[in-house]
Amino acid sequence: MEQQIKALQIEATEKFAAANSLEQLNDFKVQYLGKKGSLTSILRGMGNLSAEERPRMGQLVNDVRKVLEDLFETVSAKLSQQELENRLSSEKIDITLPGRVNKIGHIHPINLTMRRIKDVFLKMGFSIYEGPEVESDYYNFEALNLPKDHPARDMQDSFYITPEFLLRTHTSPMQARTMEVNSKENKPIRMIAPGKVYRRDYDATHSPMFHQVEGLVVGEDISLADLKGTLELFLKEIFSEDVKVRLRPSFFPFTEPSAEVDISCVICKGAGCRVCKSSGWLEILGSGMVHPRVLEMSGYDSSKVSGFAFGMGVERIAMLLYGIDDLRLFFENDLRFIRQFALRGIK
Ligand code: PHE
Repeated sequence: MEQQIKALQIEATEKFAAANSLEQLNDFKVQYLGKKGSLTSILRGMGNLSAEERPRMGQLVNDVRKVLEDLFETVSAKLSQQELENRLSSEKIDITLPGRVNKIGHIHPINLTMRRIKDVFLKMGFSIYEGPEVESDYYNFEALNLPKDHPARDMQDSFYITPEFLLRTHTSPMQARTMEVNSKENKPIRMIAPGKVYRRDYDATHSPMFHQVEGLVVGEDISLADLKGTLELFLKEIFSEDVKVRLRPSFFPFTEPSAEVDISCVICKGAGCRVCKSSGWLEILGSGMVHPRVLEMSGYDSSKVSGFAFGMGVERIAMLLYGIDDLRLFFENDLRFIRQFALRGIK
């Protein structure tokens, strides 16, 4: 019997040591140490032993059990560690994989420019007015001293919807609309009116839809000096402190006198380049003193109040600010173009 036990110990030791998974090791444990295992069945055969041999064999079986149990624990610990390591290396997370970046939207360069323009005028105490894009012939032309047969109507090729309504060709109808409202109580005005305007035009510098910002100041003793001072301050804020501003005589039916406002070329600083066509100057907005007839038509007494008005193209200002040479880029919405403005900060 002793032989049998020793042989069993050797066999079990070999099996335990050779187990290559916890599952297999557990099977071996059941096989040798379990209730129905080999060692137990040897114990059962002890009844046949003599009284002196029985305790000795009992002791031997217990010793062997103890040794095998210890071995089981050691091997089991080793295998668990091994299995953990296998899992760690096979299931490891590759932290070098780039994460998914959430795409955030950005503000279109035209809207960025609009915001900058509005900011400057808000700081100067202007209010913001908005009006309809489908405009009546009256506000778009007539109230601005452009009667039906006026030749200056040809200056703007318009999109008519009916003979009486059209897509506004400029933001100047907002002059008439705000004056009409404020003249009732003879109130002064200091406003800008940003928005979309429409003309039949399409090339590298013209789009059938574009943006303008209108400006209007009405009150007692408003002079050309106020116009110049206001626009000079505005243009220096938008472009730079060292920009030069000049007024050039011009014509608009709704202002008298009228002036085109130029700034020294922001690209070549006045030296002459392709953008300013070697003149050193850039035409930036139309302006003038509100024509007395326009004041009267909108309900003001032109002998008591005066005013100045101006209108600018937002695309043109954006092109100069960001160095863009084709207006169509603003409307094609090519993401490679639009995304470049993401880093310019949100204002
Ligand atoms: N409405 C004119 C244009 O579209 C600009 C302008 C506005 C000129 C106000 C004078 C005064 O060209």
